[in-house]
Amino acid sequence: MARRTKKTAGFAPAGPTPSGSKPAANPGPMDAAGRAAAIDGYLADYARLDTLRFITCGSVDDGKSTLIGRLLWDSKALFDDQVSALKSDSKRLGTQGGAIDYALLVDGLSAEREQGITIDVAYRFFSTERRRFIVADTPGHEQYTRNMATGASTAEVAIILVDAKQGVLSQTKRHSFIASLMGIRHVVLAVNKMDLVGHSREVFDRIVDDYRHVSARLAFASVTPIPLSALNGDNVMIRSGTMPWYRGPTLLAYLESVEVRGTEDVRPLRLPVQWVNRPNSQFRGFCGMVASGHVTPGQEVRVLPAGVTAVVKEVLVGDLAVTGAPADTSVTVTLDREVDASRGDMIVTADSPCEVADQFEAEVVWMDAQPGHVGRGYLLRAASGSANATITDIRGRINMATLDEVPTRQLELNDIGTVKVSLDHDLPFDPYSSCHETGSFVLIDRFTNATVGAGMIRHALRRAKNIHRQALSVDRASRELLNGHHARCAWLTGLSGSGKSTIANRVEQFLHARGIRTYLLDGDNVRHGLNRDLGFTDADRVENIRRVAEVARLMVDAGLVVLTSFISPFRAEREMARRLFAPGEFVEVFVDVPLDVAESRDPKGLYRKARKGEIPNFTGINSPYERPEHPELHLHGDAISLDESAARVIASLGFGS
Ligand code: ADX
Repeated sequence: MARRTKKTAGFAPAGPTPSGSKPAANPGPMDAAGRAAAIDGYLADYARLDTLRFITCGSVDDGKSTLIGRLLWDSKALFDDQVSALKSDSKRLGTQGGAIDYALLVDGLSAEREQGITIDVAYRFFSTERRRFIVADTPGHEQYTRNMATGASTAEVAIILVDAKQGVLSQTKRHSFIASLMGIRHVVLAVNKMDLVGHSREVFDRIVDDYRHVSARLAFASVTPIPLSALNGDNVMIRSGTMPWYRGPTLLAYLESVEVRGTEDVRPLRLPVQWVNRPNSQFRGFCGMVASGHVTPGQEVRVLPAGVTAVVKEVLVGDLAVTGAPADTSVTVTLDREVDASRGDMIVTADSPCEVADQFEAEVVWMDAQPGHVGRGYLLRAASGSANATITDIRGRINMATLDEVPTRQLELNDIGTVKVSLDHDLPFDPYSSCHETGSFVLIDRFTNATVGAGMIRHALRRAKNIHRQALSVDRASRELLNGHHARCAWLTGLSGSGKSTIANRVEQFLHARGIRTYLLDGDNVRHGLNRDLGFTDADRVENIRRVAEVARLMVDAGLVVLTSFISPFRAEREMARRLFAPGEFVEVFVDVPLDVAESRDPKGLYRKARKGEIPNFTGINSPYERPEHPELHLHGDAISLDESAARVIASLGFGS
């Protein structure tokens, strides 16, 4: 975070250059050369200012947009046309009785204006003579945790708005928790609408006291309470005569002076390799953006995960050799010896390397309407690369009213949970608390490509590190040889009553008669033993299929032809099962009958009960079935005979006549 304030002119983020009280903003009448020089001077002054990123958090009615509008107005960060639009909009909408409604500056989207809420993260830029500011305006109502997390991930200061009339609410706790979780160290407790409580010192003191109970549980370095009225401008930029008892800084004075500079210069180097540039055999450059620390020629580095050390020979920015490059710079680095590094590796300070592991504990903000389940696979993207990831445990989720962790089986939209994640290979990373860039990740749904979770790594889990695969002398090939046939898995999926088990049973009869060693794993049977502890919630079904897939894999390894008959309603788990097998070994068979056909068969009378509301989560009725998109075999179970269906499965397994 702190690194963002350390950018030099050349690396400053591009934002709109607002008008207003900037150094030499108005050069006055002069000749062209004079004007150019003045503009250059202005730009140079402007570029020298450091940037503070902050986030405003408040609920819909706390006056957040008004506060930001007021900051923009008071710091004169507005263009003339914005000012006249604001004046005419305020008149037209009459939200402040014809007076200026500063919130209209910020609630730019018409949908927000009409509903009176803010619906997305909006970034605003403004500056004073002391600093530039980037403010993330994030929505306040319950379901937008994820937006706030996004806004907070780059912020150095959080302004937690509290309505003086309301005091500390559960969303105040939630906002504070997320700010702390995302690594924000400095908080302003902005007690707004002081005009509505008679500018009462008692009210302010009580709120500050209440908030102490919240902040005591969080990891803030400083909490600065400021009483204000965004509407009237009291204590925003101008000290208010209405609250003479308040002796602290105004909000703007605080923002201009808060010291957030960290230890950028001493932070260890983290340079994720994005690609390797090898135009000829003489040159091998590792390209990427410095995520943290500095890279300089002569520096001793380590390349992870391999762990080999080398010395940086050259640092190039574009084509230019430089004497060093700070965080956020795209560089090409050459090393003094041949090192075999590739995309996904990380170049780090030799004596302060990051961790390398394939399992870790993390906090995850869940961002998808589809809940997150233990056992489900996702694509994980981190600074150092991607991996196939599985949530192996959900320890709990945060109850935002109490900030306590409560047990849960799944993560719902906007939940924040503590999870264990397991990867299919090692990745270099840091705990989020020591480096945000290399300590965060996102989880992506492989089917929809949607980002379903944003995570912050706590620490590596080493548990499984000492478990090595045992080399066994009798292997699958020798078993297949003994059996006289290859091993395979046919995975039958479809609604209850579609005929999966009947078809699987007939397939097994045919194969058995031909001397082929088989085993049929059937939903109803497995649920009497191995999976006796599982019901039919989504979470239980995920676990049901995970176990069955693992068992099927073991059985295929044992040389058997395995038939599975499970509804297996979710694509993600069928895909997970498929990934356990080599290409060609796994045959997905979609036994497709329309719901009304399955329901009319109703062999176990379950549909009837489900329709009467006696069975919750019944597939097809009140629990979803995700149809396979590309099954190896698509059987229209109601259109062909049982024997024909069985024959097709047998052919797809490579045992055709
Ligand atoms: S799965 O969804 O986890 O794959 P599985 O195939 O093991 O389900 O079990 C499905 C069988 O359990 C059905 O054929 C039916 O006999 C029975 N069953 C009982 N309750 C339900 C339910 N709520 N939904 C679906 N099947 C159920």
